[in-house]
Amino acid sequence: MPTKSTFSTHRTHIAGVPVPELARRFGTPSYIYDAAKIVERVNDLKQFEVVRYAQKACSNIAILDLVRRHGVLVDAVSAGEIRRALAAGYPLHPAKHGDPHPIVYTADIFDRESLSLVVEQDIHCNCGSPDMIDQLGEAAPGREITLRINPGFGHGHSQKTNTGGEQSKHGIWHEQLADALRRADHRGLAVTGLHLHIGSGTDLEHLSQVCGAMERLAREVGRSLTTISAGGGLPVPYRAEQNYVDIDVYYKLWDASRKRLEDAFGHRLTLELEPGRYLVAESGYLVAEIRAVKKMGGNTFYVVDAGFNNLARPILYGAYHPMSICPADGSSAADRPTHDVVIGGPLCESGDIFTQEEGGFVATRKLPAAGVGDYLVIEVAGAYGAVMASNYNSKPLAAEVLIADGNAEPIRARQTFEDLIRGERIP
Ligand code: LLP
Repeated sequence: MPTKSTFSTHRTHIAGVPVPELARRFGTPSYIYDAAKIVERVNDLKQFEVVRYAQKACSNIAILDLVRRHGVLVDAVSAGEIRRALAAGYPLHPAKHGDPHPIVYTADIFDRESLSLVVEQDIHCNCGSPDMIDQLGEAAPGREITLRINPGFGHGHSQKTNTGGEQSKHGIWHEQLADALRRADHRGLAVTGLHLHIGSGTDLEHLSQVCGAMERLAREVGRSLTTISAGGGLPVPYRAEQNYVDIDVYYKLWDASRKRLEDAFGHRLTLELEPGRYLVAESGYLVAEIRAVKKMGGNTFYVVDAGFNNLARPILYGAYHPMSICPADGSSAADRPTHDVVIGGPLCESGDIFTQEEGGFVATRKLPAAGVGDYLVIEVAGAYGAVMASNYNSKPLAAEVLIADGNAEPIRARQTFEDLIRGERIP
């Protein structure tokens, strides 16, 4: 299990492949993923009996296939994510009765498409609202369900990623658990599991509070429970001074809660973890090319060919990503002098700045001197990067590439202009 992360501002290779070679083969901007890093993170979590990947973090089917081959199950929040899981080879049902469901649909609503799909394909549902219980119960009585509960508190790296408490729309409010159980009963649904997810990018202190809430709520449900899910939220370091969460400590807290509940119920409980960011964040690099260097009064801007259309986290949350420079010729920038620079993207919008703080305040970053044609690599970009991209300013979605054993393989072609206008028509 890792403890500290180190970041350098001069990178020449990604997973053993020279950055200029990746840029030449796949173009810029491109998302590059290091398969070994994902596998390493999967292995960190081996103590947890069930690791269920929150694919919203990075749902390319090649990434899903990779984690599936390493024994990770999957979460889906939409009909599209269910279909992705199936396209990546996840089976619809467990190999034998009582095994964990390969795919679980967790959401706060069923849109009409997802409701038809979960009913037709018999996908397990983790219901995050009383209405979901009623709607599923009406369409498919007799099923087992799990409930996502909002325990009344939450925490995230930003207020926008806190999923607990009164300001959050997520889950069934903890004081309404008894009502939710009555609704399930009335509709002929058996509640076999509870799920708590308090936010994304949280910390061990807050994550630990969830165990106590789970124990209290699980006792309220009683012996019908066979599964408890700790949700996701495990953070990764984005800055040198940040540490990893001690997975061992975290596991032991949950395992102790599980054991107390097992003693109370007199049967075994499956403990699930539902990480997104932890598995994929550090595997991902957004490679961009510097296309202009501008002086604005006292600020120097490196303007690159990737923008918030590719990586929205800085503009949305003021999120900090480590960055490095790779010279066009592939040499190391380690000997170059460093300067405080602002990194901007190509979009016609002032907020298209990768070095910004929450609230939109422009910050600078100390990076090696660089010019047009050199590469800027935005790091720890594998989670909530490509999946949150848009076509703003009619920019195509970037290419995605997976490197395994030194081989770089395209896993998504860069969009073409025809892709961009597909479905549009002039009447
Ligand atoms: N389970 C549930 C029910 C969730 O809502 C989420 C994240 C996860 C698991 C995975 O959380 P993780 O382990 O990745 O922290 N776009 C934001 C993050 C939004 C997270 C949404 N839900 C960001 O870029 O930081």
